[in-house]
Amino acid sequence: MTTDFGARMTEIMKMSKKNVDLEKIKLAAREIRGGKLVVFPTETVYGIGADAFNTKACRDIFRVKNRAADNPLIVHISDFEQLDAITYVDGELREKIRRLWPNPITFILKRKKIPDVVTAGMDTVAVRMPNNRIALSLIRESHTPIAAPSANISTFPSATEAKHAIEDFNGKVSVIIDGGRSKFGIESTVIDVSRKPYRLLRPGAFEIGDAEKVLGDIIIPKEVNKTVNKAKVLSPGMKYRHYSPRKPLFLFENFRDMKAASDYLLHKNLKFAVISPEDYAHFFYKTRIITLGSIENPISISKNLFRSFRRLDIEEVDFGLISKMRLKKFDLAVRNRLEKAAGKNKVRNLKKFIESFH
Ligand code: TXA
Ligand code: MG
Repeated sequence: MTTDFGARMTEIMKMSKKNVDLEKIKLAAREIRGGKLVVFPTETVYGIGADAFNTKACRDIFRVKNRAADNPLIVHISDFEQLDAITYVDGELREKIRRLWPNPITFILKRKKIPDVVTAGMDTVAVRMPNNRIALSLIRESHTPIAAPSANISTFPSATEAKHAIEDFNGKVSVIIDGGRSKFGIESTVIDVSRKPYRLLRPGAFEIGDAEKVLGDIIIPKEVNKTVNKAKVLSPGMKYRHYSPRKPLFLFENFRDMKAASDYLLHKNLKFAVISPEDYAHFFYKTRIITLGSIENPISISKNLFRSFRRLDIEEVDFGLISKMRLKKFDLAVRNRLEKAAGKNKVRNLKKFIESFH
């Protein structure tokens, strides 16, 4: 299928990750080699990729995403030869990384020759070997590492299915590979191993406890859950508003508070939606509800999270409500996405929140 958008065309390639269509992958790889942009699925979220050694192509990623130039990209690789082309890593650390990949973990490592635009001029580079056959096959066939941030316009929720990427990038990239819904639905865990002690820069789809089993202790800086506005942060991406729907999303401390608020807002005849796990849906039966999965099955929550944010934007409502939740897995990562998506709209005081609607 080809979609027309002004002067440029985007080729949509549909394929299953179990049965990768190598002929199509080769066509997409040719676009990467030719300095074009290709959206591709990974196990976390969709990425918008370019040849990591092509400065101009990587600049195009920043342009179409409207991404701040000081926010570096993750370089995706399919083998260790590619790792050696862009970083210095040997000995024990190299073996540990070998044990952990391919997986949703990004390592910050000392950089070798890689364009400044990719690393935003830092002396380190973020690298990841994704655990998705389409992604690995695309990188392999491109014969070059692929620099790729999440496939969404900056500040908005990451794309977890091709449809989202089409909404954001149709006509702006050469190819969008539709590989179905992303397995995890949240981004990779970013760990800085370029110096000791190792540090978590972004919680994500790989449990930090599981990474510690291989890497040893990892520091979790308290900034990880703050939207920091200061210029000096460990990971440049942390200082921006992120993952947010276009409509205001109010984040509650617990489901009891959200229920009380929802009852009041209903009584005021306001148009809003509640984003809730199925486990609490019965609290909100009178309200427009966007369901996540079940708290008992954390991956069903992470998988549906960004999709629910995008859903909020197309519902005929003016804003959304969501509550913090405790998960047996992805707890830190999901909390981090909720905090960032809500931004200033965190409801710490229920009474004040309700009064603001008087
Ligand atoms: O799961 C993922 O990681 C997805 C898929 C497509 O692989 N990618 C992704 O990329 O989430 P992006 O660009 O949305 O997030 C990359 C994060 C940003 O917070 C960025 O600041 C940080 O990694 N980062 C990149 N290079 C860095 C570096 N050298 N030092 C510190 N942080 C870095
Ligand atoms: Mg992103």
